[in-house]
Amino acid sequence: MSSQNQSSVLHKFKGILFSAMSSEELLNSLDSFNAREDDVFLVSYPKSGTHWIAEVIENIPNARITLTSPIELGDMSKFEELKMYCKRRVIPTHLSYNMLPTDIIQKQCKIIYIIRNPKDTAVSLFHYYRENPNLPGIETWAAFLELFLRGDVVYGSWFDHVLSLEEHKNDKNILIIFYEEMKKDISKSIKKITTFLGINVSDGEINKIAWKTSFSEMKNNATKENRDPDHTICALTSDRNLVFRKGVVGDWINYFTSKQKRVFDELFTEKMRHSELARHVED
Ligand code: A3P
Repeated sequence: MSSQNQSSVLHKFKGILFSAMSSEELLNSLDSFNAREDDVFLVSYPKSGTHWIAEVIENIPNARITLTSPIELGDMSKFEELKMYCKRRVIPTHLSYNMLPTDIIQKQCKIIYIIRNPKDTAVSLFHYYRENPNLPGIETWAAFLELFLRGDVVYGSWFDHVLSLEEHKNDKNILIIFYEEMKKDISKSIKKITTFLGINVSDGEINKIAWKTSFSEMKNNATKENRDPDHTICALTSDRNLVFRKGVVGDWINYFTSKQKRVFDELFTEKMRHSELARHVED
């Protein structure tokens, strides 16, 4: 990938790469955002399972919520748009914890942070780069992996993103969910999410949510759906068809050479050596 290509579709803000879909003016004015105490923020590094959790929340009976587009997506009209929602807002974002608007932290809004193992995240983001016209062209997996390890990709380094949450991991307004735990036991994860949001659901309702949010169901619906692009929950594209690729744990094994795995694991160990969160990350 040429640097010219990269700079034509991405721009840097506070040292982090953003897509052209996030205007610099909006990023600059994030701290003027007025949060509401009952707002819920869905925070994740890209490709960690954001759509999956969003779909779970949208399918909770009587949740009385509105799922908005990402807070960092768009231009200066964004905050006016967000003000118009009357119901409880569920607001997705790929901003790291330390970049969140200060009012969210001050008002101690609920935050659901999704973590996926970084090797699968890298593979997923690699494919996303290849298919998404809003992201730079990528020639090879090896070239992409180098960018990923340097944090030279949209929303920066996976390591820094997760580390920025580290000291808040036990805050009571924060729920951390791992993609791999959702794959293992989706009913348990749904229960965790509904309990955190203070919504009662029956076992039958949980089963229904689990079925509606299965990978196959969501993938089928993505092709059928004709959503208003202004209501995308992805800050990088409004095309839901690009989101549902494989939906599995451990696909990285089909991409990493043994040398790439070693380099990755060494960097992981070095960067995450003081991280308790990292101990919960499963390959
Ligand atoms: P893959 O590219 O590995 O398939 P995000 O929503 O944060 O952009 O994350 C997208 C990733 O989550 C994609 O990973 C996608 O397939 C996966 N995903 C989305 N819905 C899923 C579901 N219901 N079950 C499992 N994985 C899902």
